[in-house]
Amino acid sequence: MIVNLRDICAIAEQKNMAIASFNVPSLEATRAALDAAEETGYPVILSHAEGHDAFTPLDAMGPTMVALAERSSAMVCVHLDHCENLSYMRRALEMGFTGAMYDGSMEPYEVNIENSQRAADMCASFDCGLECELGSMGTRENGVGHENDHVSEAVYTDPEQADEFIKETGLDILACSFGTVHGIYKGEPHLNFDVLTEIRKRNNVPLVMHGGSGVSDDDYRKAIDAGIRKINYYTYGVKYAGEAVQQVIADFKSKNADANVYWHDMTMAAYQRLYEDFTSVIKVFANGADPVA
Ligand code: 13P
Repeated sequence: MIVNLRDICAIAEQKNMAIASFNVPSLEATRAALDAAEETGYPVILSHAEGHDAFTPLDAMGPTMVALAERSSAMVCVHLDHCENLSYMRRALEMGFTGAMYDGSMEPYEVNIENSQRAADMCASFDCGLECELGSMGTRENGVGHENDHVSEAVYTDPEQADEFIKETGLDILACSFGTVHGIYKGEPHLNFDVLTEIRKRNNVPLVMHGGSGVSDDDYRKAIDAGIRKINYYTYGVKYAGEAVQQVIADFKSKNADANVYWHDMTMAAYQRLYEDFTSVIKVFANGADPVA
């Protein structure tokens, strides 16, 4: 069943857990996320990033995500990730998305506030939950998935400014910068949980971890205990799926060097690896809470 971003984060808040938000730019990833949610009994967020449009257009993927979410027995939010253009957001909302992120983190603060307010008005007219970002992670969600695309130095979210930003914009959940990065980590991540604690002291809004793949289970738990309610997860999942596909090719070729390896052999291997990874990730993010269904 399809549910609003606000409602899914309210469940996470009540249970002191985080909901996995998987970027699903393929049918295999979408099915893997839904099957993992149904298997574990926890809610899930299916995300489409504007930056993934080049290899998975919203026009094709959006209606597919909504249709599969509607008929799933799991609680599913269909969410737009890292949207910088409000006209693009409107297209997703018209398709039935129940969550959307306006990302003004690269804009000056005043422009970020102004555009986030416009996004809030638009989302309200579609009864859609809104996520906005304050601070900068210094990397972009660019869809490449195997290198960090550094665009600037990370700027951690300022808790005092966050309080004002939350009140001014009318957002439902806040993406903050506290040490995670998109893409592959070049060293051990060092997360600053005080940023989260300080924001939540002033305002109990649900917080979002971007760059959420490649983080240790211990850090996930600490972040959840400090108020993270949604964790965005992409790069490491598709890395594992890519490795599974390479393994299938190697296995076929080791038996017969001339063997054909068909596309469906690869998509099946990718689906299976994503399903296994998503299932274990959802359970870690549940942080010991009982399943919802
Ligand atoms: P990762 O690159 O760590 O998987 O993060 C994905 C993300 O934050 C999408 O918004």
